[in-house]
Amino acid sequence: MSESLRISPREEPSSPPPIPAVQTFELTRAYGNMTALDHLNLTVNRADLFGFIGSNGAGKTTTLRILATFLTPSSGHAEVFGRHVVREADTVRHLIGYMPDFFGVYKDMEVTEYLDFFGACYKIPSVQREKTVADVLELVGLSEKKGALIGALSRGMQQRLGLARVLIHDPQLLLLDEPASGLDPRARIEMMAILQELQRLGKTIIISSHILSELQSLCNRVAIIEKGRLIYSGPVQGVREQMSEARVMWVRATPEPRAVELLRQVPVIQSAESVEGRIKVTMADHDTDPGVIAETLVRGGIRLVELRDDEIGLEEVFLRVTKGETQ
Ligand SMILES: Nc1ncnc2c1ncn2[C@@H]1O[C@H](COP(=O)(O)OP(=O)(O)OP(=O)(O)O)[C@@H](O)[C@H]1O
Ligand SMILES: [Mg+2]
Repeated sequence: MSESLRISPREEPSSPPPIPAVQTFELTRAYGNMTALDHLNLTVNRADLFGFIGSNGAGKTTTLRILATFLTPSSGHAEVFGRHVVREADTVRHLIGYMPDFFGVYKDMEVTEYLDFFGACYKIPSVQREKTVADVLELVGLSEKKGALIGALSRGMQQRLGLARVLIHDPQLLLLDEPASGLDPRARIEMMAILQELQRLGKTIIISSHILSELQSLCNRVAIIEKGRLIYSGPVQGVREQMSEARVMWVRATPEPRAVELLRQVPVIQSAESVEGRIKVTMADHDTDPGVIAETLVRGGIRLVELRDDEIGLEEVFLRVTKGETQ
């Protein structure tokens, strides 16, 4: 009997649980006596469009450079599709496309020449390269600029060319270090649309940014790091819940001073204060039913004009979380 006949359908390669695209295990990196990454444990699943957020100096670039095999960890380790980034660096390099946070100095090269050069670096046979270059240019919307000098491209176009470059060897994982920085709103939206298209094509994408709200609608998952430590990892919607300790409600009521006085007597209300014609009510915890506010006021003969949830932006949550923590 041949080997293959003994393999039952259950043991087909599709059965084992998928290996995450990226996993870091207690990943640590020090520069001298400064710890840039501090025991970071991160998991990015396949086909995630993953936002990696942190303020300046948080450790984003350090993490991405380790994943891109350009930097070695001080301790801990990282895997890309199950491959060790140090011990199997060559394999990892073919699985990833890394776009650094600044663009190289190739201003006097033509767009096609530049991409052809990188195609050759990845040993794409010359007969295939022309089509590959045309395909990636099409994908990033730069076909019309194929003969242009890089120095003559706008910033947004240069960023898209940078993206085309990392796509040339058809990597499974894209590591993009602030690809939207310095772009105007229109170019930014175009860049985001390209990334969504790449996700649809099955790529796993990690994109770093120091602006949480920028990635809010783009990414299905985010991680927030600060001082090299992970402070959140999960869906964007979860950030607010996890970060804000208490639920805040805003109330308009007359007479206001009496309303504040009554609200302050309610045990499940942590605080009530007048702020520019409204009352800011902080509930003792997240699960408290804000209906207690209306009940208290109505019972106390107060006219309730408006009661609504705090609409603090994600950015404010982010700032609150990372306040004063940068190195
Ligand atoms: N080559 C280096 N030598 C010494 N310290 C470094 C080096 N590279 C980074 N650092 C330090 O490590 C910390 C993390 O830097 P990193 O570049 O990873 O942050 P980042 O999150 O990418 O920040 P930014 O948003 O500014 O790009 C910072 O305190 C930085 O000063
Ligand atoms: Mg950086």
